Amino acid sequence: MGKEKNQLNHLAIIMDGNGRWARKRHKPRVFGHKEGMNNVERITLAADKLGIKVLTLYAFSTENWARPKEEVAYLMNLPVKFFDKFMPTLMKNNVKVNIMGYLDHLPKATYDVVKKAMSETAQNTGLVLNFAFNYGSRKEIVSAAQEISKLVKEGKLEIDQITENTISNHLMTAKFGEYQDPDLLIRTSGEQRISNFLLWQIAYSELAFSEKAWPDFTEDDLNQFVENYQTRNRRFGKVNESDS
Ligand code: IPE
Ligand code: IPE
Ligand code: MG
Repeated sequence: MGKEKNQLNHLAIIMDGNGRWARKRHKPRVFGHKEGMNNVERITLAADKLGIKVLTLYAFSTENWARPKEEVAYLMNLPVKFFDKFMPTLMKNNVKVNIMGYLDHLPKATYDVVKKAMSETAQNTGLVLNFAFNYGSRKEIVSAAQEISKLVKEGKLEIDQITENTISNHLMTAKFGEYQDPDLLIRTSGEQRISNFLLWQIAYSELAFSEKAWPDFTEDDLNQFVENYQTRNRRFGKVNESDS
């Protein structure tokens, strides 16, 4: 019996392994971040070709501030470099940029450049390229709880009106509507953990892990992961007709 392929609307990637990639080549860790940045362009265009609607890339976590000062400074400057280099390509491909995270805590130059990237691409209607930057999922859930509590306190919401949708609607992914939860989450570099990424949103995401470091992860690799995803049996807790 021919089964329909799973639709892939929202792909999320934990881009891990830049530092080790560079150290293996006897280069400083930031060399890996630079190569990782260049790979973002390649994988964005590949995701666009696949008809993906939202591509969420984990670029900096709320825990990454604990890294050496120089590395943090380099990572904070990467958006400046990235948009300087790739904005024409993003515009040409109708890509809409979103940055999801605690943006108020970014250095001013970084804040300005990410805001500018969002406003410059706001009218684009193609792939949404969503960077998680200074993002942490537990913090995001705490913020949602605070916002919802405020509504209750102000008498705008009853406690028993709080549903799963109320929580979802107060997360940073709410703006993606029907595509807010990733269908597939890929992590590179061989680590098999979530590292505080989209904890609520991945309740029913398919998970996949690549041994390759992020700078080595190619369009072919992506296509293979997507093909594998398309044939998986997503049950969402139900029993499939063919298994009953
Ligand atoms: C991912 O690569 C990029 C960020 C977390 C900013 P890493 O910098 O974590 O590289 P590894 O995991 O140490 O190799
Ligand atoms: C997760 O990678 C964060 C990003 C890819 C931005 P980390 O390298 O920070 O995660 P851990 O420390 O290995 O869990
Ligand atoms: Mg890492």
